[in-house]
Amino acid sequence: MKSATTNSPLRVAIIGAGQVADKVHASYYCTRADLELVAVCDSRLSQAQMLAEKYGNAQVWDDPQAMLDQVKPDVVSICSPNRFHYEHTMMALNAGCHVMCEKPPAMTPEEAEEMCRTARRMGKVLAYDFHHRFALDTQMLREQVTAGVLGEIYVTNVKALRRCGVPGWGVFTNKELQGGGPLIDIGIHMLDAAMYVLGFPAVKRVNAHSFQKIGTRKNSGQFGEWDPSTYTVEDALFGTVEFHNGGILRLETSFALNIVEQSVMNVNFCGDKAGATLFPAQVYNDQSGELNILFKRELADDNRHFRSMDAFVNHVQGAPVMIADAEQGFVIQQLVAALYQSAETGKSVEL
Ligand SMILES: NC(=O)c1ccc[n+]([C@@H]2O[C@H](COP(=O)([O-])OP(=O)(O)OC[C@H]3O[C@@H](n4cnc5c(N)ncnc54)[C@H](O)[C@@H]3O)[C@@H](O)[C@H]2O)c1
Repeated sequence: MKSATTNSPLRVAIIGAGQVADKVHASYYCTRADLELVAVCDSRLSQAQMLAEKYGNAQVWDDPQAMLDQVKPDVVSICSPNRFHYEHTMMALNAGCHVMCEKPPAMTPEEAEEMCRTARRMGKVLAYDFHHRFALDTQMLREQVTAGVLGEIYVTNVKALRRCGVPGWGVFTNKELQGGGPLIDIGIHMLDAAMYVLGFPAVKRVNAHSFQKIGTRKNSGQFGEWDPSTYTVEDALFGTVEFHNGGILRLETSFALNIVEQSVMNVNFCGDKAGATLFPAQVYNDQSGELNILFKRELADDNRHFRSMDAFVNHVQGAPVMIADAEQGFVIQQLVAALYQSAETGKSVEL
């Protein structure tokens, strides 16, 4: 790893110059004097050009391998569509770079496992941008759980639901390029936050049901328009994860589901001493039939996107800070795959 005392800036490259590269990765890298954005690569060169011009004068490329060979960056952000996360991460790790890969880690657990093994073999940091675990609420709740305030947590409810929020850009409705719908796109964020707060308990069995009822019929919603004739992912998925410790996690996720709320992104935990809700973080139990609030955080913007990026860069520089690491990314990918497999086959999947 690069020493924190090294004076020359870390040289950073980005592969995939779309909206997350712009709003999170490039805008974060430009806040630090110890980082320099030196190259942007996109299969559409004009897109790479736009991002490079917005954030300085990085070189632009449309071939990631050629970019890695010529530029030799220290750090690479992978912001391409899901289908390419494995290929681009493997290229960057094998070129000797530390990698921050967007979520999901990959398309399959086998890919995520190989990415993990490669990072270990190359001695490089591989982190995933599961930024909800970097929210101050999540951090505070993790502390409460670790301190035993909730007691034994035996039910966890995970929700990542939209009434009609099919993304109108990118390839989010294309199963071949994306790997799935709301589960792999937004459910995965809340799943990671929940597993992080729970301390990644060992999974025993997974069960799920999925539906495709609205995306193939409607064509517009909260996030613009999509083409229903090319909509190939699920609209909604409902699953249960059973842990070896006897607890269960119930997950509900949708791009389009006829519910009252426009959007719900939250997790609640029920323990034998207290319960907790993640956003905003609060811990409570019952006192003679009345709600007894033990802890509550006022909801405030805590810039979790930049906190996630910060943790990655600080980790690369040698600081012993938590990241969403390659091992945990593999576990999350296994869970996603098992939920999809159960929904497709109608059978429980043992892990
Ligand atoms: N962590 C988060 O909250 C978050 C938010 C948004 C997106 N994402 C993830 O980031 C990734 C990109 O999403 P986005 O919204 O920026 O999509 P986007 O469509 O805006 O950007 C993707 C970019 O990748 C480029 N691209 C496509 N194929 C490529 C290839 N083979 N090589 C190089 N570039 C290629 C496209 O031209 C496009 O510019 C997805 O995996 C998505 O899940 C994560």
